[in-house]
Amino acid sequence: MKDIICLTDRDSDLEKAASLLKSGKVVALPTETVYGLAADATNCEAVASVFAAKGRPADNPLIIHVTSLSMMEKYTEDIPRAAYRLAEAFWPGPLTMILPKKNNVPEIVTGGLDTVAVRMPSHPVMRKIIDLVGKPLAAPSANLSGSPSPTTLAHVRKDMNGRIEAVVDGGECTVGVESTVICFDGYDSIRILRPGFITAEDLRKYVDEVIIDENILSDVVPEVKEVRSPGMKYKHYSPAARVVLVCGDLDHFIKYAATRKDEGMCCLIYDQDAEGFPFKYMTYGSDSEEQAKQIFSKLREADEKGVKNLYVRAPQKDGVGLAVYNRLIRAAGYEVVET
Ligand code: TXA
Ligand code: MG
Repeated sequence: MKDIICLTDRDSDLEKAASLLKSGKVVALPTETVYGLAADATNCEAVASVFAAKGRPADNPLIIHVTSLSMMEKYTEDIPRAAYRLAEAFWPGPLTMILPKKNNVPEIVTGGLDTVAVRMPSHPVMRKIIDLVGKPLAAPSANLSGSPSPTTLAHVRKDMNGRIEAVVDGGECTVGVESTVICFDGYDSIRILRPGFITAEDLRKYVDEVIIDENILSDVVPEVKEVRSPGMKYKHYSPAARVVLVCGDLDHFIKYAATRKDEGMCCLIYDQDAEGFPFKYMTYGSDSEEQAKQIFSKLREADEKGVKNLYVRAPQKDGVGLAVYNRLIRAAGYEVVET
């Protein structure tokens, strides 16, 4: 396929992107979380091209992106009351809800499941294009399957050049990690399947019970049959470098790294750890929100610098940090060290 077309966020370019999508093409679009690889969710062939471009296993379902509750209602049924409360509180924004699907959602979107993941994004470019197309857009993160999610146009171009028609530039994503994915366990009880910028504490204000799925924090490779969100069972988000996630305070981290000073070694530490840090390093922000925004681009940067072994100082395991920690466990292929 020819080189990827890079479009701007000007109206004429957004119209071009929308007409490509209407004709069944795949276009990468910015969202507030990460860039998505979008296709008309009602067009089976277009959705099949998304799976092909990513190299994504067919049993890992996609999120459909909507701009209104009525668009959600057109494709889902038996929507719990709590879903409306959560939509009111967090949409548009980085929350994805798993809901029973109607027959008009093609099986290819949901990997054969009888539920569909729905999200209303807040990024103005994504919203404008959904409205121009007039249909929900199915969109996974716009990276090659297994590699770190893209948070800039350059990341998308690197992974997708020659594989898809076009990408629209929406600047750097502000959140940086993918949406929080939840399903409904009961009437007023939800389960977090993938942590994100919207935290368990945020959600607890609107529902009686919030369960954090055990796979989120687990650093053992999950039993495939127990995983409720298919995407969580794959090794994920990985750069070419070997990643080791190191938990503990800075002193312990330095002692651990001191025994591993081989060539190609680099540490990924907090901004505030940098002064006097004795080994080669990169930093990824000073708090969980900054770490969320930077983590994927730092993993990509490690590859650009030819890093062979990347030792990451683990983020906090609560709040937004939980999302960063969850992505890093998978980037590390479950290689997690307690110091
Ligand atoms: O922020 C995001 O969510 C980004 C942007 C582009 O919107 N999208 C994204 O999509 O991260 P993706 O495909 O990379 O991740 C979707 C996750 C996967 O873990 C998938 O297994 C899960 O949602 N998922 C989708 N449909 C599901 C369903 N019906 N039941 C359970 N899990 C589902
Ligand atoms: Mg993804």
